[in-house]
Amino acid sequence: MDFHVNNLDLVPAGRSRIGWAEREMPVLRRIRDRFAAERPLAGMRIAACLHVTTETAALVRTLVAGGATVRLCASNPLSTQDDVAAALVEEQVGVFAIKGEDRETYYRHIRQALDLRPHITMDDGADLVTTVHEQRRDLLPGLAGGTEETTTGVIRLRAMARDGVLGYPIIAVNDARTKHLFDNRYGTGQSTIDGLLRATNLLLAGRVVVVCGYGLCGRGVAMRARGMGARVIITEVDALRSLEAVMEGYQVRPLARAAEEGEVFITVTGNRDVIRREHLERMRDGAILANSGHFTVEIDIASLEKMATGKQRLREYVDEYRLADGRRLYLLAEGRLLNLAAAEGHPAAVMDMSFANQALSVEVLAKGDPRLKPDVYPVPSAIDAAVARYKLEAMGIAIDTLTPEQQRYLSSWTEGT
Ligand code: ADE
Repeated sequence: MDFHVNNLDLVPAGRSRIGWAEREMPVLRRIRDRFAAERPLAGMRIAACLHVTTETAALVRTLVAGGATVRLCASNPLSTQDDVAAALVEEQVGVFAIKGEDRETYYRHIRQALDLRPHITMDDGADLVTTVHEQRRDLLPGLAGGTEETTTGVIRLRAMARDGVLGYPIIAVNDARTKHLFDNRYGTGQSTIDGLLRATNLLLAGRVVVVCGYGLCGRGVAMRARGMGARVIITEVDALRSLEAVMEGYQVRPLARAAEEGEVFITVTGNRDVIRREHLERMRDGAILANSGHFTVEIDIASLEKMATGKQRLREYVDEYRLADGRRLYLLAEGRLLNLAAAEGHPAAVMDMSFANQALSVEVLAKGDPRLKPDVYPVPSAIDAAVARYKLEAMGIAIDTLTPEQQRYLSSWTEGT
């Protein structure tokens, strides 16, 4: 079996940490038990480009229990947990991922995952799908479908569908409510603060934290930073989201103004060039810059490099840039997504729901519905509802049901009083 990982001596550590994560993933465990009995993925080859974490290992084990052969590569060069990669290799999964791999190795690993000649692709950021379309069009006829985990990937795939170039159907797992309402908000919120603290050991109480972007991820980061006593400023381009941030009690400003006030800046917009030279020029001495968006495009690092007269690594994830005017700016994790580079990504309890949607979406694709033409599809609403139900059950939380009279009332227009 082909694979490329850092160090197989890490197998015991990886196995133990995967077990720890699985304790928090009851929904995925339930699906795995069914998959093991029914084998709905028998004979399926799956190429997955996901963050190689303990939670992803739990998903891969579920797919394997369903009968699939899986190859896994990383969806970011810095997010791989080498012990997890080693443990999966020991379980006969072809893993191609090494924490800190360079750009060339990262893309070579993607190509090696595709060498499996998959029936199904699983993406987090759409790098597999784009590589198939640009370099491996020979694989298109054999592809039953793919899944996409994240907002950024779904945006790319919708652009492909709009331009008429998407060659096979994709299920947008990100858009399931049991995914984005929890993973993007509570997952990104907690894990970004976790990454910030692990990277810097900073006290957040009393700090001015600027959160760029008030989508679900930005909301999560802002909420958790405020919870630790930070004074949070939001920057946004969308009027409605800005208004929501105002009414949540945050200060909202253009970044050009916030740049002068902020002590910590966290980008979570999904767009490029958010923090630009004009902002870097206004920042105070000691400002800390971090990104939790999927791609390393939100902070203009090229300008920071050009402005700097010197650069020094102070801690594992902290680079100091000295500017000509004497100011120092600190870039965390080379501008890569902080929560996965400096911490361990979202906690398992939230990935449980995201990856339950993944596993059940793969099952839909494996059945091979001929109505699925090349396009981007939502997760079937029955899956979304089942994941919510399973999660509540696993948490031991019971809820109410409508009485027949209430159901009638909700579907009638004649009853007003
Ligand atoms: N994306 C965010 N957090 C993650 C995690 N823990 N595992 C896999 N993908 C993730």
